[in-house]
Parts: sequence; C-alpha cells; structure tokens
Amino acid sequence: MTRSNYFVDRGMNGNTPALPSRADESFVDYVCEARNVLLHARWKQLGDHGNKTLKDHGIAIEQTKDCVKQVRDVIAGDMELASFLRIKRSCQEMYKDRIIGSINTQRDDWLRKLEEAESTGPGSLEYDADFPMPDYAKVQIHIQPRGYVGDDLAGLYYDCGTQIFFGGNNAGDAWHRELAERTTMPEDGKVDRILEIGCSVGQLACEHKKRNPDAEVWATDISAPMVRYGHWRAIQQDLDVNFVQMASEALEFPDNHFDLVTAHILFHEIPRPVIEKTLAEAFRVLRPGGTFVLWDFSTTSDDHPGYGGFLGLMDSADNGEPYAPGFVTMGVEETIENTGFVIRSIGNPAQMHDRVCDKPA
Ligand SMILES: C[S@@+](CC[C@H](N)C(=O)[O-])C[C@H]1O[C@@H](n2cnc3c(N)ncnc32)[C@H](O)[C@@H]1O
Repeated sequence: MTRSNYFVDRGMNGNTPALPSRADESFVDYVCEARNVLLHARWKQLGDHGNKTLKDHGIAIEQTKDCVKQVRDVIAGDMELASFLRIKRSCQEMYKDRIIGSINTQRDDWLRKLEEAESTGPGSLEYDADFPMPDYAKVQIHIQPRGYVGDDLAGLYYDCGTQIFFGGNNAGDAWHRELAERTTMPEDGKVDRILEIGCSVGQLACEHKKRNPDAEVWATDISAPMVRYGHWRAIQQDLDVNFVQMASEALEFPDNHFDLVTAHILFHEIPRPVIEKTLAEAFRVLRPGGTFVLWDFSTTSDDHPGYGGFLGLMDSADNGEPYAPGFVTMGVEETIENTGFVIRSIGNPAQMHDRVCDKPA
C-alpha cells in the first residue's frame, strides 16, 4: 500500500515527473488552484486597479523604482492590493519550498539519472563545467534558491514549478504544443534547421521537433542544469534534439545557418544590453529569408498594459524578476528593426504575444 507521505518514484505526469510523495503533490495542486482562483482569475482587474491606485497617488509607473517606500505605503493602505501581493508571494514560496524539498528526497537518484543520460541518445548534450557564467544570470530568479544556474536539479524544479506557474495548463506540454502550432514559419516554407534560445527544459524545442520531424533541432540555454535535464526529458520522448549550454548573446553557430529561431519568455529575464546582443546574434545565425519568433510581454511604453504596469513591477520586486521592468518599458520593436529585421506581424499587444521578425531575403 502507498502511504501519502511515502517517497517513491511515482512515474510521470505527461512528460514531467510526478513528485515523489502524494502528500506533496496534493499540496502543490492545492497551491496551483489557489493561484488560479485568487490571482489568475482577477489578473486584469487587479492590474488595472494597481495602475489606477498608483496614478491616483501621483506615482507614474516609470518613477516607481525611485520611490519604492512610497509605493509600498500606497499598497499597504489598499486592502485588495496588499492581500493580493501577500497571497502571490506566499503561493510562490509554498510551491517552491515544497517542490524542492520533495525532489531532494531523491536527489542522488536524480543526479545518477542525469549522468547516465549524458552518454545516451537520441539527440546530444554539450555543457561546460567551467562555463564563464555572467553575474546577471546568477540571480535567484522567481525567488528560487540558487536560481537557474546554481543547483544541479534546477531543471527538474523548473519543470515541476511551471506546471503550477502556467495554472495547471502545462500538463503534457500543452502550452508549448500550442506555441509550436502557432509558430509562424519563414515565408518560403523551408525549415531544415531550428534553434530555440533560452530553452530551459526544452519543451518548445521538443514540440518543434514533433511538428518538423525532418528538421535538425537545437536547444540552447545558459544554464547547464537546464540543458542536462532537457536532454534527459527529450530522451524520455525519444526525440532527437541537440542541447547545448550557450549564452544567447554569444551563439556558437555559423552565420546564415538556421531557418527558424525562437525565444519564449527569455527576453524579460535578461538585461537590456544582453537583449540587444541576443537580437544581433539571432539575426546573424539566421539565413536570409529566415524567421525569428519572439514571445514575451508587451513593451509598449504608452499606457503600460498588463504586465508592463503595476503587476510587472510587483513581480519584479516580490518574485525575483530584476530585468522585467527594463524589458517591458524598452519598446523592443524599435530595437528589433534597428537590428535589421523586418517585423511581419505582432500579436495582441495587451498579452504576452509573438513578434514575427524576418531577416530580409
Ligand atoms: C523563463 S525561462 C525560458 C522558458 C523556456 N523558453 C520555455 O519556453 O519554457 C528563461 C531561461 O533563459 C535562460 N537564460 C537566461 N539568460 C540566458 C542567456 N543569456 N542565454 C541563454 N539562456 C539564458 C535561463 O537559464 C532560463 O532557463
């Protein structure tokens, strides 16, 4: 009989390992639903209310970083905003702590599985134990202890955590499958080589491979724990995807090499100079007529819709997102065009949306 607090290999939930105890899984499911009901369902109203409240107190969104104490006082005086932020932070802490604690009951098993996968295919894995990690990438992003790069199991934490972060909609990689289906291809239709940058655990790269089985697919990330776990995860699906530890601003691929390059929610997690270099590198490695698809938050600077306003600022302060405010206010479209791309289309600017950017033929 399986006891609820008994730690065992409990198999997979789709392509993501189940947590090793039923009690932990139940707890994390509860936090996921709490987030859905208390936060996600009221996202827009809370964002609008936060923007308006700050404005009513004479605080422009652009100024908030310079008057943090004043912003805190305004929020503390508004029961709805104060409760929202407290619940949001607590949910984040609860699910991170529980997932990391649960997985670490099986740490040695996981380290062994990752090591065994290194010499196994399909697909390949390259990483460097002496990779010169830039300081900006060492932050405790999403208040995750040791961040993306400082714990050998960070990829597994990320995989289990995003099941909650995406509101339970990521089971079986549904979110990334939809992204792959919606990916706009080069106008001439030729897609022999695909590159995903900032791939984390490789969900989008794997979905690209499923939709384009004859294409060579590469998945890169600055974090060794991410690409090591991504490689293990792709093997479980018998997918031939090549994982490499590589910084998006210094891609080690030849010029004019790829037909399609994609980046999903990478840009709001890197500093602005790195964004500029990353765009230049995406442009360089794409062949003429190739396409770069960038999914991330809106960066329109006029009325700061959605994540660009109150919600994004608070996420930055309370959820370890130091670079997001820089991204959402930069007007990335202008930088894209200055890099040489022609923007073919932009999705709904009030949401996280895709920008389809072509390298002129
Ligand atoms: C939010 S996650 C991306 C999620 C992933 N693209 C997906 O679709 O699930 C951001 C990732 O970017 C990686 N990253 C941060 N800076 C990077 C850089 N300069 N080059 C490549 N990857 C980077 C992090 O290690 C992390 O795995």
